[in-house]
Formats: sequence, C-alpha cells, structure tokens
Amino acid sequence: MSADRRFPDGFTWGVATSAYQVEGAWDEDGKGPSIWDTYAHTPGNVRNDDNGDVANDHYHRYVEDVALMRRLNANAYRFSIAWPRIFPDGTGRPNPLGLDFYHRLVDELLDAGIEPFATLYHWDLPQALQDTYGGWQGRETAQAFADYAGYVAGQLGDRVKHYFTINEFASFVEGGYRGVDVPVGGGRTVHLGAAPGLALSDAELKQVRHHAVLGHGLAVQAIRAQAPAGTKVGFAENVRVAVPILDIPEHVRAAEAATRDRNAGFMTVLLEGRYTDEYLASAGGRTPRFTEDELQVIASPLDFVGINVYKPGWYVEPADEPPGYHDIPINASHPKMHSSWHVFDPEVLYWAPRQMQSIWAAESIFITENGCSASDVVADDGRVHDSDRVMFLRACLGQLQRATADGVPVHGYFHWSAQDNFEWMDGFGERFGMIYVDFDTLERTPKLSADWFREAARRNAVV
Ligand code: NOJ
Repeated sequence: MSADRRFPDGFTWGVATSAYQVEGAWDEDGKGPSIWDTYAHTPGNVRNDDNGDVANDHYHRYVEDVALMRRLNANAYRFSIAWPRIFPDGTGRPNPLGLDFYHRLVDELLDAGIEPFATLYHWDLPQALQDTYGGWQGRETAQAFADYAGYVAGQLGDRVKHYFTINEFASFVEGGYRGVDVPVGGGRTVHLGAAPGLALSDAELKQVRHHAVLGHGLAVQAIRAQAPAGTKVGFAENVRVAVPILDIPEHVRAAEAATRDRNAGFMTVLLEGRYTDEYLASAGGRTPRFTEDELQVIASPLDFVGINVYKPGWYVEPADEPPGYHDIPINASHPKMHSSWHVFDPEVLYWAPRQMQSIWAAESIFITENGCSASDVVADDGRVHDSDRVMFLRACLGQLQRATADGVPVHGYFHWSAQDNFEWMDGFGERFGMIYVDFDTLERTPKLSADWFREAARRNAVV
C-alpha cells in the first residue's frame, strides 16, 4: 500500500442512516406522529405510495444491524434520534420508552467498538409542532428543538460524545416549505419536494431559514448546558459547493466567493454570525425578523463542521465585474449517478472540505454523508454487483484523501448509507446502501461495495 493513499491516523470510518428512513415502528412504544408519517400516508406524495411504517425494521433488528456494521469494519455510526419518540407532542413530558430504544442501541454500538454519533433532527418533526406553529415557520419550534436536544444530550451524554444538531438545513427548508429545482445539465432541472409540502414565498422562506439556524444555535447552547464537559457538537449541512474550472489561484478564489454567497442563508450565517448584504437585499429586501443576540446564538462556537457531499453545486470562472465570478452551466452530457439529481464529480470531495478550511477556517471537518444510489439486484450467484458504487467510492475517497494530504483537517467519513432504506420522495425505489435489503423479507445482503469499504477501513486507505 503506497503511503500516499493512506488517511491520517485515527480517521473515522463511519456509516450513516436516519430514524424515519430505517427504524419503522412508526407508532410503537408511545411515539407520536411526525410530519413524514403524515406526508407519506397521504397518497400521491411518495413514489409507489411507499412509507416508513416498517422501513428496515431497524427498531427491532438493531442488534443484527450493528453486527453488520462491525463486519464492515465501521468504527462509527451516525444515526438520528426521532424527536417524536422522545416528545410525542414535540414538547412537554418525555416518553421513557422512546428513549430506551436509543439507550439499547448505544449500548450495542459501544459493545461492538462502534462510536455513536447522534443527529438530533433529520426531518421527522413532531406533527403537533406543525399543527400548532406551522413547523419551522414558528420561532417556538426553534425553542422546542433546543429543549428536546438538551434533554437528549443530558440523558445519553455519558456514552454519546458527538452530536449533530440538524441535518441538511437546505433540504428540509427549501424542499419542504416550497420545493426546489436542482440543475442536472443541459438547462434541465429536477423538482425535489419534502414534508410538510408547503409552497411559501421567498420572503416567508427567509423567516423559516432563520428559525432553523436559530434552532441549531439554541440547541448547541442547550447541549453544552446539559451534557458532560467534552461533548462535541456540530451540524451536518449539504453545503452547495462551487467547483473552479481551473485549479489556479484566481479560479479557486472565485469559487470560494461563490460558495460563500450561495450559502448565505445557512452555512455562512452559521459560521459567521451575520447575513451578507446581498442576502438581506434578496427577495425584494424582505429581511427575516432577527436580532443581533440571535445572530450570536446562531454562530455559537462548534467543535466540528459536518458536510454532506454528493455532487458539485455548480461550476464557476472568475469575472472582472461584481460579484467576481460567473456561473458555468452543467453540460447536458455531464456524467450522472442513478438518482435523478445526482450529477457526478468526485472532485467535490476535495473542494468541499478545502473550502470549509479556506473560507471559514474550519479546524475539524467530517464528511457526514456521501454515497450514491444504484440499480442493485441480487444476482443468480447470490451477490449484488454494484460496480458503479465501487467506482464512486474509490473516486470520491481518492479526492478526499488528496484533501487530507494537502493538510485539510478532515477527521472522518460517513458513508450514506449502511443499508438500502426509505429514500424520501423516491420511497424504496432508490437504493443507497452498501447492504442490500429485500423489503418483502427484510433480509440483508452485503454488496460488493461492502467489501470495498471493509478493506478501505481496515487499511485506512483508498483501495
Ligand atoms: C441526504 C439526506 O440527509 C439523506 O436523508 C438522504 O437519504 C441522502 N441525502 C440521499 O439522498
């Protein structure tokens, strides 16, 4: 193994899932309904009208699933906690049976030598908060989130040392409160939606974004107040990354400026504690209602920056006129992975963390998600030959290794996903796992990519 393909010592090799996508047991042990229960139970919202009522039945099969992770040589598991299991109505009295599930899961992980990384919000908002406050349209939801986050960190904090507050601000806000059109090349876009399925104006969206980042900041403070000293906190954001056309300083700088501007409503305010002038002037100058104190809360110091990295945001070149760059459209023939939105460029695994370091001086970075769906089937020989996912993994991790070799402080990688699971609007129709799941029998079968990951994790290197 040549030294130049190795990751730094102590690198985290993790796999990731989220509660609604794998747990099932949607109404067991006192759990309240979430907006995803409601949304997926409404015909026409999800491909084939699939839903997460049973999903992977991880709630009952977590022992088998942890054993499978161990066979992947994963040393960390990023899972999410279902808020409506802990507080069925979003606030008020906690439900001990809901919390017990996470106690059992965490014990099982630690026994297997797998470090638990808990995400506190992966989109399954308690329905009661949607009904009462319009979800994240209400500032009350941000406060309720912090109360829940602090409570959970207080209960699990003796064994769970890493928390992600919120997963992918941009996806659940833009997707859920209006729907978002993602460019996929040749001027085409695909429309992505999400629960609760609203259609707000630009100005209203700004307020929802503000409440989401505020919820994060309040949660960071609540976790620090209630978890033991040394507990580490960050977020997991799908930052939109501008990729430079040339790897030379002017282009690299132009791409950094573009990334900072286009992430103004989330990443930029989270890490800088201010809204850019351009952002405040957008949407006809309608600014969100906010205070200077709130901005300070939003930018509460973090222990790491988590980024979900699947695809390039777009490409840029420098320009003489403001803002100093211009966009290059994605070509119609640009390669894609299987999901409709998934434009392929492994170099984004290099540029994304590098920009976190160069724009915001991030000192600890985790790739909290990366992966792809594929048209997987169990072949006659009983195996799942996901050659495209193996190609994707080697290409992406090769670029990530290049970032670490350049001194970018990336401390871990979480593959999305451990297993095939409920892929939101695409139901069970897009398979992202390194382990195949037969959704009729719930039998699990490791794919070829599982062999790749097992060996890469064992050697701490690109293989
Ligand atoms: C990001 C989301 O966090 C996750 O829930 C989703 O399944 C993957 N991307 C794949 O689309």
